[in-house]
Amino acid sequence: MQTHEIRQRFTQHFVNAGHTAVPSASLILDDPTLLFVNAGMVPFKPYFLGQQTPPFPGGTATSIQKCVRTLDIEEVGITTRHNTFFQMAGNFSFGQYFKEGAIKNAWSLLTNPLDEGGYGLDPERLWVTVFLDDDEAADIWEHTIGVPAERIQRMGMEDNFWSMGIPGPCGPCSEIYYDRGPEHGKDGGPIADDTRYLEIWNLVFMESIRGDGDKKGGFDIVGELPKKNIDTGMGVERVACILQGVDNVYETDLLRPVIDRAVEVTGARYNEGNADDDVRFRVIADHSRTAMMIILDGVTPSNEGRGYILRRLLRRIVRSARLLGASGEVLEEFMNTIMDTMTPSFPEIAENRERIVRVAVTEERAFMKTLVSGTHRFEEAAAATKSAGTSKLSGSQAFELHDTYGFPIDLTLEMAREAGLEVDMDAFDAEMQAQRARAKADNKAKKQGNIDESLYREWVDASPTEFVGYTELNHPGKVIGLIRGGERVGEVSQGQDVEVILDVTPMYAESGGQLGDRGRIVVGDTVLDVHDVQKVGKKLWVHKATVRDGGLDVGQLVTAEVDPTWRHGARQAHTATHLIHAALRQVLGPTAVQAGSMNKPGYLRFDFNYTEQLSDAQLREITTITNEAVDADLAVNTIETSLEEAKAMGAMALFGENYGSEVRVVEIGGPFSIELCGGTHVGHSSQIGPVAVLGESSVGSGARRIEAYAGMESFRYFSKEAALASSLAAELKTPTDELPARIAQLTERLRAAEKEIEALNRQQLVSQSAQYVAKAQQAGQFTLVALTLAEGIGAADLRTVAADVRERLGAVPGVVALASVSGEKVPFAVAVTTEGVGAGVKAGDLVKLLGGYVDGKGGGKPDLAQGSGSNPAGIDAGLAAVRDELTRR
Ligand code: ALA
Repeated sequence: MQTHEIRQRFTQHFVNAGHTAVPSASLILDDPTLLFVNAGMVPFKPYFLGQQTPPFPGGTATSIQKCVRTLDIEEVGITTRHNTFFQMAGNFSFGQYFKEGAIKNAWSLLTNPLDEGGYGLDPERLWVTVFLDDDEAADIWEHTIGVPAERIQRMGMEDNFWSMGIPGPCGPCSEIYYDRGPEHGKDGGPIADDTRYLEIWNLVFMESIRGDGDKKGGFDIVGELPKKNIDTGMGVERVACILQGVDNVYETDLLRPVIDRAVEVTGARYNEGNADDDVRFRVIADHSRTAMMIILDGVTPSNEGRGYILRRLLRRIVRSARLLGASGEVLEEFMNTIMDTMTPSFPEIAENRERIVRVAVTEERAFMKTLVSGTHRFEEAAAATKSAGTSKLSGSQAFELHDTYGFPIDLTLEMAREAGLEVDMDAFDAEMQAQRARAKADNKAKKQGNIDESLYREWVDASPTEFVGYTELNHPGKVIGLIRGGERVGEVSQGQDVEVILDVTPMYAESGGQLGDRGRIVVGDTVLDVHDVQKVGKKLWVHKATVRDGGLDVGQLVTAEVDPTWRHGARQAHTATHLIHAALRQVLGPTAVQAGSMNKPGYLRFDFNYTEQLSDAQLREITTITNEAVDADLAVNTIETSLEEAKAMGAMALFGENYGSEVRVVEIGGPFSIELCGGTHVGHSSQIGPVAVLGESSVGSGARRIEAYAGMESFRYFSKEAALASSLAAELKTPTDELPARIAQLTERLRAAEKEIEALNRQQLVSQSAQYVAKAQQAGQFTLVALTLAEGIGAADLRTVAADVRERLGAVPGVVALASVSGEKVPFAVAVTTEGVGAGVKAGDLVKLLGGYVDGKGGGKPDLAQGSGSNPAGIDAGLAAVRDELTRR
């Protein structure tokens, strides 16, 4: 049975049982605790916690969630069991059925005959585990389902108690295993052998909330969830192994084609006795799929976070292919193959093929380049190691290769071996550990953001805020909560910084890139200045304010007032953002996908995935289209509708956004721009006023940023530019139109003058050559001029002087060695007469010798060489060493 059909049967089974089918969320959800979605329940977390009411009619749902787990990238392929990407099929009950329902539903799908929509698995081959003291689950398995007691095993926290690994919802679980037969391992059930007995489904009885800690050290249960819930996860790929009668995931219909393609591309063979090669093939297959799926969801390669994971995956593919014998580019082939196998289940791949290939191939080419510069760096490091008389490449050099040049450590190890060197792995590991510790600290810092939500949980469901700000700027509301210093309080007084929660508010809370409104909360003589508004759990408006006058109690009726100037500017900037987005797609095509935005009164910035720098012409075109749209006075309409309707209208949804089933569409000028958006907008595009695009820049590899002003800010910007041009024109006594030509002319003259000064300086230096010759000394058979010249003489001049002094020495075995200090640098040069070279002296050797004393390097020809160092204190000793060296000959 093809994987796609396994998916369809799963969804159908649960839809028949009354579940709402929910599409997979993006791999990238707006959850600061997660790099990637790593379990089917992640998008449903707020429903388990009771922060939001599940919008599913029967209180149950089913999904097949894309998941990525990247903790052990290095382990991939070494065994055949783990993949960095997988699909988790699940059914979820929010306070509806519990253990019995979950167990019955899973069992019937697994064992129902094929012609009744099931998977037709032999019940005799199924084993189950339950949590140590979960007699209830064991009892259901044995007496309701009829699983013999000897095939029900009990396991502890490590295996049969599930949480996300962080504080949050959790509960005991029950797992279903399939016995693959004695050829796969020993008897005795999952407790004895979890290779032979393959875990295929985990049923979590989600009822509690856990605190800090980990599996090993344990964690406390800090509370109970409002309801008893079900969260299950069936491994689609594992079931595919069983139903396709293959030994492991790499043999299934999704991954095997990539391995076959890699065999063709590299000329190496799979599964024919070379274990190292086999691992490389599996790395290619696994990583190709994961990389493709995360590019699909909007990630581009970079040096941190998700982008770094993607970079590692792509580089490991390229490197594995090269080790297998590939010589050219490979990623286009592999991406195309994996897209072919995955498209039946993920049709959205079809419209993203070109973009996915482009992102992957750009990274491949970049890696090829660092592969060259990194190899160069490696050779330098290897040479330095050897000339220092040791055979161990330092850990910091290996780390630099890893960190700066993207060299996996196994590449460095292999190259070191070829060069007859070892690598100081202890030191390398220590550097890696330090880096991991930094990353962990970083993660921890990010997690803090989440914790506070518990403070608001009670209000989120019981009394969410009603937002009336699309039509009103002033509105009465009741104070339903006050928070100060992270604690609820009953009243606040003058001078205090507080958070105010209202039942109704006209104030916009930051979301969709638009900053929260500024304004006031007033009642009688009491005035609070609101300087930010944030949303909690998508439903509760929290006004961050300072009490300017008077005091406020919970329960009081107040009026919330949006600062109309602020709001006017925010609407202009937000609508301008949509116009720029639309213009950008007209100019760059649909592959320029939005990656984030920010707008506030008068200013906006817009990030999008695009691998090349925009040309001036493209930027001008985007600016023109945007301002033409302003000028056309397009109507801005907002429509509340279902997500499906919105998509049918062609509305652009953003990666990483988790939309509810009811959405708001903002449409500007009909088809010109249609986006899902909850922001505040002007009524007609002409109300935006002029839009001034400031420029375009890079924000990490693969993403670009456009910044712009809107409305009066644009006007101020243009006025400032105009004033600047006028003052330049006055200063240079030229009409503004002719400024560029005039400035070019002046620059040219300046450059010529600088050249002239340089030439004069050099003449002056050379005129002193005679004096230098007078300072010649004898070093063995050689006439030597070894001097430190005045400060500030650059490398080129030093070389000219050295050559000139050499000429003046005449036909003798002679050497000129000069050094100077120029800024931070120590330039030096050595010239040798023809007779000197004849006597076996090479300028390059002496430059290296000198370089050793001033912490520098250099090179050149036998008769003339130069270098640059950084340690002025070493000059005298360096020149003395040159003299000694010549004397010894
Ligand atoms: N959330 C459970 C898991 O990931 C089903 O195993």
